[in-house]
Amino acid sequence: MKNGFQKAREELERMGRTVESCPFRTRFHIMPPVGWLNDPNGLCQFRGLFHAYFQYSPLNVHGGGGYWGHCTSRDLIHWEYQEPALTTDIPEDRSGVYSGSALIENDRMYLFYTGNVKLPGDYDYIDEGRISTQILVESDDGWHMSEKVKLLGMEDYPRDITEHVRDPKVWKEDGRYYMVLGARARAWDESGCRRDKGGVLIYTSGDKKNWKLHQRIVPERPFGYMWECPDIFYLGGKKVLSFCPQGLEAEKERFQNIYQSGYSLMDESDNPEDTFREWDMGFDFYAPQTFQADDGRRILIGWAGVPDTEETHRNLSVANGWQHCLTLPGELTWRDGKIFRMPVRELEDLEWHPAELKDGCCVWDGQTVKLLLTEIAGGRRKIRIGKEGNCLAIACEGTRIELSFLGENGNVARCGGGRRTRVGRTAEPVDQMLILIDSSIAEVYVNQGETVFTTRIYLDEQDRELEVCGGGKLNLEYC
Ligand code: FRU
Repeated sequence: MKNGFQKAREELERMGRTVESCPFRTRFHIMPPVGWLNDPNGLCQFRGLFHAYFQYSPLNVHGGGGYWGHCTSRDLIHWEYQEPALTTDIPEDRSGVYSGSALIENDRMYLFYTGNVKLPGDYDYIDEGRISTQILVESDDGWHMSEKVKLLGMEDYPRDITEHVRDPKVWKEDGRYYMVLGARARAWDESGCRRDKGGVLIYTSGDKKNWKLHQRIVPERPFGYMWECPDIFYLGGKKVLSFCPQGLEAEKERFQNIYQSGYSLMDESDNPEDTFREWDMGFDFYAPQTFQADDGRRILIGWAGVPDTEETHRNLSVANGWQHCLTLPGELTWRDGKIFRMPVRELEDLEWHPAELKDGCCVWDGQTVKLLLTEIAGGRRKIRIGKEGNCLAIACEGTRIELSFLGENGNVARCGGGRRTRVGRTAEPVDQMLILIDSSIAEVYVNQGETVFTTRIYLDEQDRELEVCGGGKLNLEYC
């Protein structure tokens, strides 16, 4: 029988050319070599080299999982694709090698992930039919993996927690190891209706093998029914809990995507909802993970996508056998009571060339564009990416920023694949905007990364035009 790695290799051979020829391939963003990608996993720097693993479905462009893809980089900008690092090959992970994280210690890599099992049958996969196991594999080099070792199973979770327990993020603190897991707790409202609550479970261990429950955070008042991909880290002396709540009601200027991702300050309040702030206000952002680089920087990479968006929007690369990518790695800093995110400074080392606008316009095709608007001072500014009638408009005025794929008559631009509008705010009037466009992805960093928008944009090459209206200082470069 063919093993999973062989199947992935064959699919890449079969489809590789079609994928490579797709005009929507990016240059500096991590993509699936073929098929589908979702969450970043196991982010780390090991012996100087950056490793990014990711949820990967080479055999199905619409997902379904089965692998941890793998790529490596010296500078967080140029990535080299490797063979997948993990696939489903033990009973505990037969329906998926789900998300997880890396811990580097004594020149060895420890990868923690969730083995997912969905039993065949008529189950709801919440209370029945699902088995979530936390698993450890070790590696000496990031490529070759040891045997998989089961760390925690259904018998180890509190009784009121459903079968959804996953996405271990592990860190070391004061000589002990901690593992935070996303979870869904069984709960009912006053009228007796089932109303589950998202939360996290934190386990602790002295040896990375034996774990016991240390703390649970399941808020009194539900803040979504499930939390995925939690992450706990320190930044600017603050203990930060990053997580992805599912099931929040959309508000006019908040929670505009189907599922959210954001962070809370653990020491400020017992209830994460009180300090919750979204990581990104764009259409395409979910399941971020952070890691600490050797030089001490806290770096975040997100999935530039969101689950379950089939009903609202599409990715036009599917026709060429692939979809989704990760965000640029962003450096996190703590300032004015919140986290700012800017692209890692290695981006500056690319060979950028100045570009000029003619009558406010320029065209680009193969290049990557970097547009920096400064001295906006709250005035009205508008940037059009694409041609009139098929474009994304980024507009700001005062403290409000809007991304819109809607034309004047309300029609949705083809290049948005169904995406419509997103709104974000800054504390002070917008003064600065950095926009990076890498083929089919645009990332907008407002006021030095206080508010960020990530969106995919599928412009045919002949429509790759850019227009900037309004004053302020403009610096336009490409590489
Ligand atoms: C988040 C997520 C994780 C899970 C993974 C499976 O996007 O649902 O909770 O581990 O994707 O691919």
